Amino acid sequence: MKKRVFLSASALAVMALSSAAVLAQDNTFKIGLVLPMTGQQASTGRQIEAAAKLFMAQNGDTVAGKKVQLIIKDDTSIPDVTKRMAQELVVNEKVNVLAGFGITPSALATAPIATQSKTPMVVMAAATSSITQASPYIVRTSFTLPQASVSMADWAPKNGIKKVVTLVSDYGPGIDAEKFFKDRFIFNGGTIVESLRVPMRNPDFAPFLQKVRDAKPDGLFVFVPSGAGAAVMKQFLERGMDKAGIKLIGTGDITDDDQLNDMGDGAIGVVTAHHYAAAHPSAMNKKFVEAFKKANKGMRPNFMAVGGYDGMHVIYEALKASKGQGGGDGLLAAMKGQVFESPRGPMFIDAQTRDVVQNIYLRKVQRVGGELHNVEFDVIKDVKDPGKAK
Ligand code: DHB
Repeated sequence: MKKRVFLSASALAVMALSSAAVLAQDNTFKIGLVLPMTGQQASTGRQIEAAAKLFMAQNGDTVAGKKVQLIIKDDTSIPDVTKRMAQELVVNEKVNVLAGFGITPSALATAPIATQSKTPMVVMAAATSSITQASPYIVRTSFTLPQASVSMADWAPKNGIKKVVTLVSDYGPGIDAEKFFKDRFIFNGGTIVESLRVPMRNPDFAPFLQKVRDAKPDGLFVFVPSGAGAAVMKQFLERGMDKAGIKLIGTGDITDDDQLNDMGDGAIGVVTAHHYAAAHPSAMNKKFVEAFKKANKGMRPNFMAVGGYDGMHVIYEALKASKGQGGGDGLLAAMKGQVFESPRGPMFIDAQTRDVVQNIYLRKVQRVGGELHNVEFDVIKDVKDPGKAK
């Protein structure tokens, strides 16, 4: 008799526990953040993780009555791994949103998972124009290479740079940068002397830079992914290419704020076009940079961090607007068309393309308060991705 009572009491306890677990699950909103935390693109993962955590620390982890949970997975920037991790996050963890995606091949590999499972996929880093067309569930908060490259191609010929060699990393974003810079630069009366492509994995820039030196252009236009800029700068300077009168220009990926301060005075004067600089002089950005540094042992946020921070903003606002209801489609609908102020400046998620519309700034590397910074000197407002124009 006693035993029976004991059994049913424990059975009751188990029932209570499992219904609590169900409740907890219903009240949890899971964000699966898939990022390169190790390997060649590790700085992208480090920056985005730090930014996402900062956003949550500043905005709380309860939104529309749901407890927000971040699940971070290291894809080591191998696309098959990204895809497998995203699948596991959707099937096993039942995440409400997929986010992160450090490089284009990782984003493209995962797109079918987002489509099949109707899970919004917030691309916070990868920047090839076509990514948003790979799934109707993709929303992007980073930038596109055509946005930055076209702006640079408008600036260069007006500033004495008429003959250019392009040097890009040989994959999606590099091909975009090369094509969109080239077409616009030629349209503006410039001449492309040569177009060089370096391997994306473990690149050796030396033989390519030697070729550029021999070609003696007015300028060298470069795109390499975040984390590779310092190596390009070092070899460019070691070869005395700046002294030979070749101007280094590019998208802001080469003067990456994550590395810029260690590049040395040789970097001073390099002009790039991009959507974010840690030195962007708005009150909101000053607060963002200060808080980011404080929470991360003085690490300076780069353009990847701002993509992560704004990606979290888009997710939080969508959760609020859909009141935690509506599943993936409801969330996606609430992500489209969002307009808000970002540390980068004004930002808009175009409802038609699900891509980011934003200012592109021209910046020159200068020493400010003892540190090297990308100092903005001009702005092209509300730039839509030129890659989407038919
Ligand atoms: C991509 C990666 C980068 O690190 C970057 O700076 C720009 C684009 C990409 O793979 O899409």
